[in-house]
Amino acid sequence: MFQDLIAGGTESSAVTVEWAILELLKKPEMFSKATEELDRVIGRERWVEEKDIVNLPYIESIAKETMRLHPVAPMLVPRMTREDCQIAGYDIRKGTRALVNVWTIGRDPTVWDNPNEFCPDRFLGKAIDVKGHDFELLLFGAGRRMCPGYPLGIKVIQASLANLLHGFT
Ligand code: HEM
Repeated sequence: MFQDLIAGGTESSAVTVEWAILELLKKPEMFSKATEELDRVIGRERWVEEKDIVNLPYIESIAKETMRLHPVAPMLVPRMTREDCQIAGYDIRKGTRALVNVWTIGRDPTVWDNPNEFCPDRFLGKAIDVKGHDFELLLFGAGRRMCPGYPLGIKVIQASLANLLHGFT
């Protein structure tokens, strides 16, 4: 149990922050947009705190966009269907093991415009969240087996990314 918590609670957030910085280094205009938001909302005199994140929509969008393209858990924990059902138009028998491919959903052109483009702006002003209700973005899973660490994970990603950008020269 503790191994699960340590493995799930460290590498996942660190890898996501690395991907975010990599994507931003390739798109300097987006990097500047993020640091402008930080300068405007936080100012140059202090670091970003957890409570500031609600006022940093662009940083939140960068975190979502990074995880859409580079989900740390590309496949959710396998589910067993409890009754005959239909998934995406296919008839599935009771007792079938179903795998949800988050990576593929995140790059599905029927769901996303320019799916392979890193574009945080696509989330600005949109109500899509990562709490398992919006099936196009199941970054932490959904239902009873959803990631129990998601409130911690998302905050660690947002706060450490924001502070790395805020202190970047
Ligand atoms: C970037 C951060 C994280 C991401 C993207 C992530 C993602 C996920 C995903 C997709 C699952 C499978 C959910 C499902 O199948 O519906 C999962 C399960 C799990 N996560 Fe996370 N996680 C993160 C951070 C954390 C943290 C911080 C902890 C704990 C401190 C944690 C602990 C766990 C555990 C224990 C499970 C297994 C739950 C179960 O099988 O019932 N995760 N995580």
